[in-house]
Amino acid sequence: MPIEAVVASHDSTPAAAPLLKIGDLHGWYGESHVLHGMALEVHPGEVVTLLGRNGAGKSTTLKAIMGMLQRRHGSIQFEGHETIGLLSRAIARLGIGFVPENRGIYASLSVEENLLLPPQIRPGGMSLECIFTLFPNLKERINSQGTKLSGGEQQMLAIARILRTGARFLLLDEPTEGLAPVIVEQIGRMIAQLKQEGYTIVLVEQNFHFAATLADRHYVVEQGRVVDMIPNDALAANIDKLHGYLGV
Ligand SMILES: Nc1ncnc2c1ncn2[C@@H]1O[C@H](COP(=O)(O)OP(=O)(O)O)[C@@H](O)[C@H]1O
Ligand SMILES: [Mg+2]
Repeated sequence: MPIEAVVASHDSTPAAAPLLKIGDLHGWYGESHVLHGMALEVHPGEVVTLLGRNGAGKSTTLKAIMGMLQRRHGSIQFEGHETIGLLSRAIARLGIGFVPENRGIYASLSVEENLLLPPQIRPGGMSLECIFTLFPNLKERINSQGTKLSGGEQQMLAIARILRTGARFLLLDEPTEGLAPVIVEQIGRMIAQLKQEGYTIVLVEQNFHFAATLADRHYVVEQGRVVDMIPNDALAANIDKLHGYLGV
C-alpha cells in the first residue's frame, strides 16, 4: 500500500465511540421549557464537567440522562443505544449511577445499612473492603446513623452507595458543595482514583479550580444548552472568557 493510502486510512479511523452522546435534548418541568437543544459527548474514561451559572440547566441535564424528567425529547445514547424512552430503573441497569445534589442517603439508617441496601445492578459492584479503602472515614463511622454524619461523610456515603451497584458511569451533582477544603481535597483524590480505574464521570461543579485538577474537558451550559467546550489544557488561556460565562 502506498504511504499516502496508509496515512489516509489512519486519518479516517473513527475515534473511539462516545459512551454517552446527547443530541438536541429538550426538557420540561410542567409547562416550563428548561433544556433547549442540549448536546454533548462523553468518551470512555473521561471526566467531563458541566459548568454554568445557577439555573443554567446542569442538574436538569443529569436528571434527563437518568430518565427523571417527566417530559423530554431528543436523543440520549448510551453505549450506542437510545435511552430516551427508557424508565429510570432501566437506565440505572445500564450501569449509570446518579448522585443527586441532596445526596439521597437514608438518614435513619447506619452507614453499613446504607451501603448494603442498594441492589447490585450489574456485576463488578465495589466490595465493602474496596469502599473502605477509598473512604477510610466511612469505615470508622460504619455504625453511625446517616443524620450523625458530616456533610463530607454524607457525600462519600452517597458516592459509595452508587459504586456498590456496579455502575461505571457516574453523574455527580456538585459533590463538593458546602464542604470544607480538606474534605473537597479528599473527594478530589477519590474522583481521580476512580478515573484511574476507568470510571467515566460527568461532574457538575461550581468550583472550577477543583474541576480543573480532575477534568479532561469542560462544557459551559447556558439556558439549557451547551455554549462552549473547553479542553482542560486550554482552561488557563480561556480563563477570562470562563469568568464571563460564570459571572464571577
Ligand atoms: N423541580 C423543578 N420544577 C420547576 N422548575 C425547576 C425545577 N428544578 C429546576 N427548575 C428550573 O429549571 C431551570 C434549570 O435548573 P437546574 O437544572 O437545577 O439548574 P442548575 O443545576 O444549572 O443550577 C431553572 O430555571 C430552575 O428554576
Ligand atoms: Mg444544579
